[in-house]
Amino acid sequence: MTNNNMSKAAQIIREGGLVAFPTETVYGLGANALDPYAVAKIFALKERPSFDPLIVHIASFDDLEQLTSGTGENVVRLAKHFWPGPLTIVLPKSDKVPDIVTSGLPTVGIRMPDNPTALELIRSSGCPIAAPSANKFGQLSPVSASHVKKQLPNVDYVLDGGATSVGIESTIVSIEGDTCQLLRPGFITQEDIEQAFPGTFVFNQSKPEKLVSPGLLKSHYSPKKPLYILNEAGKSLPEASGLILHSATNNAYTAGKVIYTSQTGNMVEVAANLFAALHTMEEDAHVKNIFIEPVVEKGLGMAIMDRVKKAAYQYNNHTN
Ligand code: TXA
Ligand code: MG
Repeated sequence: MTNNNMSKAAQIIREGGLVAFPTETVYGLGANALDPYAVAKIFALKERPSFDPLIVHIASFDDLEQLTSGTGENVVRLAKHFWPGPLTIVLPKSDKVPDIVTSGLPTVGIRMPDNPTALELIRSSGCPIAAPSANKFGQLSPVSASHVKKQLPNVDYVLDGGATSVGIESTIVSIEGDTCQLLRPGFITQEDIEQAFPGTFVFNQSKPEKLVSPGLLKSHYSPKKPLYILNEAGKSLPEASGLILHSATNNAYTAGKVIYTSQTGNMVEVAANLFAALHTMEEDAHVKNIFIEPVVEKGLGMAIMDRVKKAAYQYNNHTN
């Protein structure tokens, strides 16, 4: 069922059901974050391993206080600066948050999405909403309602808010005192945080030791066809190839089907159109192999290449 009946969607959340909804990043698969039985349905429908914790979506700063314990002044300033927006902050959780949401971790990831439909759903439901991306575990992230229905046809309800604007998942940071660790790169970069709060946070560059974020899974966000990252200029591609480029000036390659995520190499456009391009190639019966141009791993390019490398992981050469 796809509709824009907000009161129906909110009722489903209140009654312990699942609603897929748009955010500015990707579509989420939502349940009442305070109801462990409802949250369990998310893991079942997504076929998601129970060790992978969920992000809790809120619509008011009061909820930040309610769901966390001992939030410092800097965290509140950080949240107020970037929220609503694509930044998830991992903080010590309060007793209100069921263990299933955090996969037993003592911390919870929280964000306030910058999307009117998402915010209205949270407000109308009257509870914070736990939501991972609304895809099957490991598959491409959904950036439209039809992507959600392709992978999760049995979801109770899909709120259709059109295509998402940012197109890749939120940046995830964990904060302990003044130490900030980037767990997943996203639209908001380390430089954005440093510029907004000069000298406030010390960035811990070491990789977390245990698996605390999907950012550490090597394979993720994958299409159901082989995906290769282009690495040799002018190479001719096999027949039945789909090619994803990021600028119309790149004409070193030809292929049966070409999709440009941007005409000009604009990274914001590339991010916004990346998953939609991969979905289109996945759905096209004439495309057997997908090739994608890499981007420079700087600023937003870091988050884009993080997704591309994980999507292509099984098909590229690795040293580790
Ligand atoms: O943009 C987004 O973040 C989207 C939209 C729907 O909000 N959500 C999303 O959720 O990408 P998901 O579940 O696909 O990725 C969230 C990741 C999890 O895989 C998890 O590892 C990490 O956030 N995470 C959640 N809580 C955490 C915690 N307490 N500590 C470390 N990582 C956490
Ligand atoms: Mg996901």
